[in-house]
Amino acid sequence: MKLLSYDVAALLYLVAAVCFILALKGLSSPRHARRGNLIGASGGALAVVTALLSTDFHGANLPVVLVAIVLGCIIAVPWARMVKMTDLPQLVAIFNGVGGGAAAVVGIMELTEWGGATSLFATSATAFAILIGSLSFAGSMLTFAKLQGIMTGRPIVLPYAAIIMLGTMAISAALAVVTAMTGNVWWGLGLLLAGLASGVLTVLPVGGADVPIVISLLNAFTGLAVAASGFAMPNTLMLVAGTLVGASGSILTIAMANAMGRSVLGILFGALKGGSTAGSTQASDRPVRRAQPDDVAIALAYASRVVVVPGYGLAVAQAQHTCAELVTALRERGVDAVYGIHPVAGRMPGHMNVLLAEANVPYELLIEADDINAAMPSTDVVLVVGANDVVNPAARTDPSAPIYGMPIINADHAGQVFFLKRSMRPGFAGIENELLFSDKTQLLFGDAKESLGAVVAALKEV
Ligand code: TAP
Repeated sequence: MKLLSYDVAALLYLVAAVCFILALKGLSSPRHARRGNLIGASGGALAVVTALLSTDFHGANLPVVLVAIVLGCIIAVPWARMVKMTDLPQLVAIFNGVGGGAAAVVGIMELTEWGGATSLFATSATAFAILIGSLSFAGSMLTFAKLQGIMTGRPIVLPYAAIIMLGTMAISAALAVVTAMTGNVWWGLGLLLAGLASGVLTVLPVGGADVPIVISLLNAFTGLAVAASGFAMPNTLMLVAGTLVGASGSILTIAMANAMGRSVLGILFGALKGGSTAGSTQASDRPVRRAQPDDVAIALAYASRVVVVPGYGLAVAQAQHTCAELVTALRERGVDAVYGIHPVAGRMPGHMNVLLAEANVPYELLIEADDINAAMPSTDVVLVVGANDVVNPAARTDPSAPIYGMPIINADHAGQVFFLKRSMRPGFAGIENELLFSDKTQLLFGDAKESLGAVVAALKEV
């Protein structure tokens, strides 16, 4: 028996859809991201409850659904709460993959239920949901395995990869057309397999820094698959939510690709042409100028303007609080100390903003790359904390570098540069950074948290 009428359910779905839109708006700035997240989660909860109360469950279906919800919560909630921030991209990948897989399974269930007796429009939307949903599921699982280190993160290019890829795409398209024309579930299952193969083949040749961009792209695909399911069922909320995810995922994908100086097509098909994005992890043995905590503290204390450029190492060392302590101490001494934030510093969009927000750093001190670059020639000292690629001048000067074309923070335009890192190993792109060997650069080796702690202590003596 349905506890909610169609009209009431439609109204509640509309409220949930508005919550999703407000959530996206909230997530546009760290200032109200937490609130945006809560609004989105409330919209999701409202949608689930509305779906439960407005569905006529036959026989044993309701207990099965409830058990599935409880199981999902038992797995997902502790996982999401305990995950390390540096492992978030893989968590997003797996949750996203599950969404795509669900859209594909819903498509198969719809075909079974209709038994061919429905409109071409409904079967076409369903075929789309099955293909894109299963592609997103397989692709996301593979990106999870790559980022989690279960398999190599490097691009894997099979022999005749381009031909296999084109062949699979052609078979998938043909199966999608036949499924749409016949509404037959067996063709639908064939399409599901072709979608899984397409997902694997799409992600295999992608490696290195490009994997998170592919997660974002697959996220957009999942949204489109859910929107197509919404068309077929029909369910307005799935249509709206899927479209929101599809659109925002596409925008994020393009923004990330631009911030890394790449094209989305180049990321997906670049390795098939022989280009690889993965570099070496070999440490350089060229001589560098070393610094001690005292040297760094003195240079910072007597500077007028200091820019701290945080990167992935800040997250690894969990040094955000010590870093904030240093900047506060400098500002109290009258030094104009701010943070230069690169859009792809770290391993996920907004990584540095989230990290520094944890340490209650005021947003006004986080200056984006373009603005900080304008001030770089008049900056006395740049303190690079666990960053490497985002300050590597090879992005401007070396056309053969994998990061060539990526806008960077021009630390080399400042008067003096200190790097805080543990060794001479390169950053994510696996390439040498000439700035480490420049006359104006000195290195303070060690874990970022310990090094920053030592600099804070030394600053008190200056
Ligand atoms: P990276 O270039 O990866 O450099 C990180 C540096 O941190 C390394 O030089 C490493 O050197 C140092 N480090 C690691 N652990 C440390 C610790 N505990 N203490 C001190 N230093 C430590 O990072 P980045 O400059 O932030 O650049 C980000 C890179 O990731 C870019 O190539 C970007 O394209 C890529 N990427 C970004 C994203 C997004 S969306 N943010 C997603 C995927 C990939 P040692 O090992 O010598 O300490």
